Amino acid sequence: MYSFSDLQAIVEKSFGQLHLPNEPQNLYEPISYTISLGGKRVRPVLCLMSANLFSDIIDKAVKPALGLEIFHNFTLIHDDIMDKAEVRRGKPTVYRKWNPNVAILSGDAACILAYKCIAQADAAVLPEVLRVFSATALEVCDGQQLDMEYERLPFVTEEDYLRMIELKTSVLLAGAAKIGALIGGASMVEADRMYNFGRYLGLAFQLQDDLLDTYGDPKTFGKAIGGDILANKKTFLMINALKLVGKESLAKLHQLMKSADVAPEDKVDQVKQVFDEVGVRKIAEDKISHYFDLALAELGKVGVRDERKEVLQHFAQKLMGRNR
Ligand code: IPE
Ligand code: IPE
Ligand code: MG
Ligand code: MG
Ligand code: MG
Repeated sequence: MYSFSDLQAIVEKSFGQLHLPNEPQNLYEPISYTISLGGKRVRPVLCLMSANLFSDIIDKAVKPALGLEIFHNFTLIHDDIMDKAEVRRGKPTVYRKWNPNVAILSGDAACILAYKCIAQADAAVLPEVLRVFSATALEVCDGQQLDMEYERLPFVTEEDYLRMIELKTSVLLAGAAKIGALIGGASMVEADRMYNFGRYLGLAFQLQDDLLDTYGDPKTFGKAIGGDILANKKTFLMINALKLVGKESLAKLHQLMKSADVAPEDKVDQVKQVFDEVGVRKIAEDKISHYFDLALAELGKVGVRDERKEVLQHFAQKLMGRNR
């Protein structure tokens, strides 16, 4: 079986062999720029691991796996415009390095390139793979829209938040796991178990991302710390703070979210103080472990020998300890 680093190497090598057109330069260069800045390659690796769980030969999953990573990169290029983020993977975001119009169109082109790669799955599984991918891709848009709408709401319930992150983030991990399983020859029942594994892992992953956005180490995170606070995102940290904090601090939070004239560093500091007051960090960590356990339980139900599952268990553990 392939290890995590074997699969990362396969992904990198295959990207090296994927030749994007050169012209127009401002359409394709932002795509290769984003891809070449790396990233953890979570989705393609998950797709390949899932294929490898059911089959020793994974060649046929490689192009679709690249498609998933290209799709992810497309969402990041557009997400950074929506979130006004200036840094991604430790480098200027596409809309800052070029401009928003370039970021919009190169993102669109990346989305189409992603489909071209996904469409290279074997004919026998292609209809189902395309169905899963299209449903997933649309759900990501649903989630991104809700994420933006929630910025303007004074309060969001935990249930609504969880549904939003399931859509914007978790379904793509779920879809990656399911597509890999289908290409690896899994039955529909097993492929759906892998979908659920990815779905729970994705929920834990986005909760962790919210946590790192406030409490991560700027040296490793690769994104600006405090971006979610500045954008008034209703992250898991924020909704718990809003729910649990005393009257005075609640008023302070609302004030900070409304006022345009607080310096960004001050806003981040003050919101963080309220988060600490309530101990939202611990609440988030508990929720992360909860979904992590659910993910592993789902993997446990898959009908292959336990030894074959170790790589995926390790992968999940590694993700939960991530610092970027
Ligand atoms: C960032 O995804 C967007 C989220 C869904 C949290 P990753 O954390 O996988 O980003 P890269 O690909 O490693 O840069
Ligand atoms: C991103 O959520 C989800 C998608 C890109 C679809 P975030 O906005 O939290 O991701 P980061 O933190 O910018 O990577
Ligand atoms: Mg976002
Ligand atoms: Mg963002
Ligand atoms: Mg984030």
